[in-house]
Amino acid sequence: MLNKKFFLLFFLLFPLISFSSSCSLNVEANGMMQFDTKSIEIDSSCSEFNITLKNTGDLDVKLAGHNIVITKASDFEYVTSIVNPAEGLDTGYLPKDSKVLFKTKFLGPNEATTLKINTDKLQKNEKYTFFCSFLGHWGVMKGDLVLK
Ligand code: CO
Repeated sequence: MLNKKFFLLFFLLFPLISFSSSCSLNVEANGMMQFDTKSIEIDSSCSEFNITLKNTGDLDVKLAGHNIVITKASDFEYVTSIVNPAEGLDTGYLPKDSKVLFKTKFLGPNEATTLKINTDKLQKNEKYTFFCSFLGHWGVMKGDLVLK
């Protein structure tokens, strides 16, 4: 009898548990230079938010790599101005800079990586931009990110 109650409780609570654990997000970047999302909302109750990025395109990483970089929206122009392929694929073509808040390396076909975001570094009333820092990509591969 006790077991049956536990069983029912589990199935009643399971959807709540799975829906409330929204401190992670899967994002795909495709061969058409598109992210599958235009805006990301991070719940401020999350101390860490994980974005798992997968490149579903089929072009070599050196031809059309995809990554995710997060900056304040007001720093987007500056950060894209310091993109430098000499920095290498693993840096997302970006040097160390305080205005680059979070970034991943470039991914090739079928590669995935998880970006761990410490939400202490984000503010609620700030607008952020996420984008791909591959040359020629950030004009279209970008979106808004906010902490709610
Ligand atoms: Co890209």
